[in-house]
Amino acid sequence: MKIAKSILVACAFLISNVANAQNISFIKDVAPILKENCFACHGSKNPKGKLDMTKYEALRHGGTKDDPIVVGKPDESYFIDVLKATDKSRMPPKESGDALSPEKIKILEQWVAQGAKIDKEVDAKADLLKELRLRWKAPVPSAKYSFPVAATALAFSPDGKKIVVGGHHEITVWDVETAKLEKRINTRARRSMAFLFLPDGKLIVAGGRPGEEGDVRAYDISSSGKITDGVTFLDGVNDKKIMLKQLLDADDEVLCLALSSDGKKLAAGGCDRLLHVWDISSGIENAKLEQSIENHADWVFSAAFSPDGNFLASSSRDKTAKVWNLASKESLATFPDHQNSVYGVFFKADGKNCYSAGDDKQHTGQILKVVGNDKANLIATGGSDNTIKTWNAESGAAVKTFAGLTDQVLSLAFNKDGSLIAGGAWNGEVIIWKTADAVVLKKIAISPGLQTASK
Ligand code: HEC
Repeated sequence: MKIAKSILVACAFLISNVANAQNISFIKDVAPILKENCFACHGSKNPKGKLDMTKYEALRHGGTKDDPIVVGKPDESYFIDVLKATDKSRMPPKESGDALSPEKIKILEQWVAQGAKIDKEVDAKADLLKELRLRWKAPVPSAKYSFPVAATALAFSPDGKKIVVGGHHEITVWDVETAKLEKRINTRARRSMAFLFLPDGKLIVAGGRPGEEGDVRAYDISSSGKITDGVTFLDGVNDKKIMLKQLLDADDEVLCLALSSDGKKLAAGGCDRLLHVWDISSGIENAKLEQSIENHADWVFSAAFSPDGNFLASSSRDKTAKVWNLASKESLATFPDHQNSVYGVFFKADGKNCYSAGDDKQHTGQILKVVGNDKANLIATGGSDNTIKTWNAESGAAVKTFAGLTDQVLSLAFNKDGSLIAGGAWNGEVIIWKTADAVVLKKIAISPGLQTASK
């Protein structure tokens, strides 16, 4: 009896293996494993061993050695050898992590055994990160959040009556006077990192999925839609009347946006170290990429146009702030005096001076956000000390401190005339204050449906 049983088990095992063996897809089964475990070192830029795995063709071309795959023969393929190796040739290298699980190695082996083919619909030269992004579907945000979402981005609507904040795969719109949730617009991006309203009311959003993808998109959030329990739901993923235009598709998050004062140029920067500048003078739908600037050695945290639109200032995790001449496409100045990440830049109205902010004793910690308002002649900074401070834009003198948030300040915005200021925190709190006297006007917990202890 015992023997019979074990034979049965062995048979079942065989059958499931054969079933698996029939349908290994390069793009569905193999590429995600390579992306997760290999692309960090075998990307398209300076790949280790000169082996770029982000394109099928490049993988098969090989690196310092020839094609690491012997078609149909996993046992003779260097590509499989390195996964099973116990010496220093093991991939991923021992110091960078564990070996792949036996299940994952099995998938790669079967793929090689089956001919190491690429799916018909994928081009051998195609960037696999892009192909994987194409196949990724955005989830629908949960009706009620189980965890608070960090307030990574916020903005006042142009009329100042609403406040727009980033949620989890969505943008939410709240009424300033009642603090009530009015609209939810789902987005492909998991997080929004920056918002910017164009003069015509369209909303530009930068964000993405950390380490996975980044985007800049334009939305019309004014539409009406399906209403449930008093909240309007809009589809910002598929509805072309809501999501008007995708301006950028990047391999990692986009962190900041800037608009020139004449409204003709838009800039965005992020984790790929680049700053992109578009000409949007014929409307956002006809945006034209003018230049992609590679001037920083690390993430770009913030950007600002000079008042005349000729220069673009930026700040970075590379501990510098820089100014770029847009006409001559050259770096004009670098301010390397910061000891740490520089989170914000701001041009003074005279166009001659530029503030940058990172570590700062005034905030007993780091300044994480900087925004300015010409009408009020103020600069506001948000810090890791949970406070927001305003400063005279001319003299730099401290004006007011805004208290009440109980976590680090991640987002910050003035309304148009500068009479209100809003700050958003890591723990999902947003507070709106009157700028003049720092009195709290409204508190909003921005995670829909989440009961917070403080409320
Ligand atoms: C932490 C970095 C790192 C990761 C992650 C990594 N590798 Fe490597 N890989 C290297 C380095 C470094 C070399 C060069 C080794 C040498 O030349 O001695 C290399 C070389 C190789 C080579 C030989 C290339 C040639 O032609 O010389 C193959 C094949 C390879 N890796 C496969 C993989 C696979 C498959 C994965 C994912 C499962 C992976 N590597 C993940 C660092 C990495």
